[in-house]
Amino acid sequence: MLQLSNKRIVLGVTGGIAAYKSAELIRLLTKQGADVRVVMTSAACEFITPLTLQALSHNPVHLDLLDTRAEAAMGHIELARWADLVLVAPATADFIARLAGGHADDLLTTLCLATNAPICLAPAMNQGMWRDAVTQQNCEELEERNIQLFGPDEGSQACGDIGPGRMLEPEQIAAKTAELFSMDILTGLKVLITAGGTREDIDPVRYICNHSSGKMGYALAEASAAAGASVTLISGPVQLATPERVERIDVISARDMHQSVHDRLAGVDIFIGCAAVSDYRPAEVAGEKIKKDPENGSEVLEIKLVRNPDIIASVTALDQPPFVVGFAAETHNVLGYATDKLRRKKLDLVVANDIGDREIGFGSDCNEVTVIGKEFEEPLPRASKTVVARQLLQIIARCFKDKQGVTNNTESAGCLP
Ligand code: PMT
Repeated sequence: MLQLSNKRIVLGVTGGIAAYKSAELIRLLTKQGADVRVVMTSAACEFITPLTLQALSHNPVHLDLLDTRAEAAMGHIELARWADLVLVAPATADFIARLAGGHADDLLTTLCLATNAPICLAPAMNQGMWRDAVTQQNCEELEERNIQLFGPDEGSQACGDIGPGRMLEPEQIAAKTAELFSMDILTGLKVLITAGGTREDIDPVRYICNHSSGKMGYALAEASAAAGASVTLISGPVQLATPERVERIDVISARDMHQSVHDRLAGVDIFIGCAAVSDYRPAEVAGEKIKKDPENGSEVLEIKLVRNPDIIASVTALDQPPFVVGFAAETHNVLGYATDKLRRKKLDLVVANDIGDREIGFGSDCNEVTVIGKEFEEPLPRASKTVVARQLLQIIARCFKDKQGVTNNTESAGCLP
């Protein structure tokens, strides 16, 4: 399980001898799945070259606030917004003082002021500088501003002194970084989601489809990525932009979606079938446009339909299925039919969606659903699909973890609220 998968870390490197350890830190962070962008102060470049850090992070290194080329690629405000975390390692006494003073006279301090992401510092300096009352006061101020300090450690220093001020080892910093994100409910998990409707061709001109806009499935994909999961979204034809950090696979028909799901199931922890899959398709697709026959006075055109594969049922039928969440879009007896689908399709959870109400469900920006497990029902109040998606994921993560615990303890299954 990659503890930092999908996480975006801006690593600030300031000018201290411990800067050489930043190279190893980048290696460890990227090994855990993080996307790392390095920002170096000019003093840091005296200790280690940008080229080394660029090669290890696989991203261009940012050096100057007023570098037009770097700004054109990703400006400092964009970088501040991009980050899930700004980690400064090593953080010198001077950098700590400038941050405490609210300076914005170089790229790194400006970025720290601009970002909404958490900031963590790994101080590294001579023991006398660390013990100095001003440094201590600066650190206290930063901690009051919710800036977290990783270390420093005690021990022998590059200058020959012994005492506090040594930067923590890269392994320790990487572990503390992973700990910060371990609160994300889906950290390290692989989630596969289907969204949108499917299209079933009748002839080269016409097809059968439904009213699914994809909004609910896309909101789930976005919220899953934000919750730390690595997300693949298999999407029917929709008019929506791909959420950030989500791999999107476009499909047209139910059979395409079925194939695509099975191609990508390896290693998946949670499968969410939010797509409105066409249950039937025309038995034959006409090679040419079906014409009105002027000789035939009939007002009726008959199209024979055949069953499509049930994608979600084919996933739960596997020997070792992932945790499977289905949706049930119903116009009447919503909870009854949804509970029946939970049992019949062997789902872990089903989300009952009353599509008889035009304000929710298909196409709308809002939804109101009831999550049904084997031993509980939990209604979620009317809210935007973004909010409903986040609430759904809280329940899904909780039930997934309960089931994992039960499986690991080889006890009987069951998901309690
Ligand atoms: O896309 P939006 O406009 O935002 O609308 C959201 C939604 C209403 C489409 C969504 O919230 C929803 O309810 N999706 C499921 C719609 C549906 O087709 O439900 P169903 O009751 O027909 O199917 C039950 C479950 O089986 C679903 O998880 C479905 O993905 C799955 N299924 C159905 C048929 C099939 N051949 N294969 C399947 O996997």
